[in-house]
Amino acid sequence: MKLTDELFERGKSQKEICTIIDDNYVLLHKTMPCSDQELEQYLKNMLEAKRNGINMACVTDYKLIEGSTRTFGNISYTSGVFIEERAKGVTSSDNTATYLSPNEEYNYDEVANDYLKRLTEYVELLEYRDNSTQEVYDKFVNDVYDLRKYNITIDPKPLNFFYSKEDGYTLIDPIPWNNQGESDLNYFPSYILTAIFGYGCPYISAVDSKRLITQDLYVRFQRAQSSLVNKVVIALKKRNVPDEDIQNAINRMSGLSNNNFELVDINDLSQKISELNGKQKSL
Ligand SMILES: Nc1ncnc2c1ncn2[C@@H]1O[C@H](COP(=O)(O)OP(=O)(O)OP(=O)(O)O)[C@@H](O)[C@H]1O
Ligand SMILES: [Mg+2]
Repeated sequence: MKLTDELFERGKSQKEICTIIDDNYVLLHKTMPCSDQELEQYLKNMLEAKRNGINMACVTDYKLIEGSTRTFGNISYTSGVFIEERAKGVTSSDNTATYLSPNEEYNYDEVANDYLKRLTEYVELLEYRDNSTQEVYDKFVNDVYDLRKYNITIDPKPLNFFYSKEDGYTLIDPIPWNNQGESDLNYFPSYILTAIFGYGCPYISAVDSKRLITQDLYVRFQRAQSSLVNKVVIALKKRNVPDEDIQNAINRMSGLSNNNFELVDINDLSQKISELNGKQKSL
């Protein structure tokens, strides 16, 4: 798809980075992680990766915004308006915490309902991801590692990884790969788990580090989680990723650790939250 003058103007004035044009394309107004001179090569690298089977959304047309290049040390950014293939599906959220202050008044029934909704959505998201077979997880892991062949690599924020049952995992928003980043490879298993699980199960920040969860959601969460971790571990082992890196990645994910959870009866949830926030629930 081409970037017409009209789309360029529309993109330039849009408040969000991304608006959806149709089923297959998005309009982006964003910075790219390279200078104007490097941009063409960077976009070609993405196309080359895609041509070789990596599941990634590529730019089909663009126009730079003049004078927008910024350089910090040896890192440059350039801004423009881009038409990009639309990555389909869902991403993990990058905010898992609900922040409560002991100094404020809350309707704890509402807080509890809202929290329960977030927990349920999170568990459903994992169950949805777990619909896919081992092959999809093998491909995702391979795509993440193989991207470096094209001098680009993942930006490991959870929002940069889309998942749908139909397309599996689609990568967006890569960054240039320089070989000095080789030590970063130890963290790839962590990045992959974070792409799938986000920063873990939702929690209420006032409630210590415990994650309150109901019995039925906990059972579903554990089932989906262990199945997904298992698929990732199998894929990583097939790739000969060192066991130590895999184990470190699993240990690092606090939201995965079972002793971080406290089981609560659904009827006691709002009471529990109010107590842990240092309040008696007001009636
Ligand atoms: N090709 C795409 N398909 C679907 N959604 C997209 C696409 N590109 C961007 N988005 C949406 O817009 C958001 C921001 O885009 P992108 O990650 O490319 O920008 P960014 O400037 O690098 O932001 P960040 O620093 O937060 O990663 C994404 O998190 C995603 O929700
Ligand atoms: Mg991004």
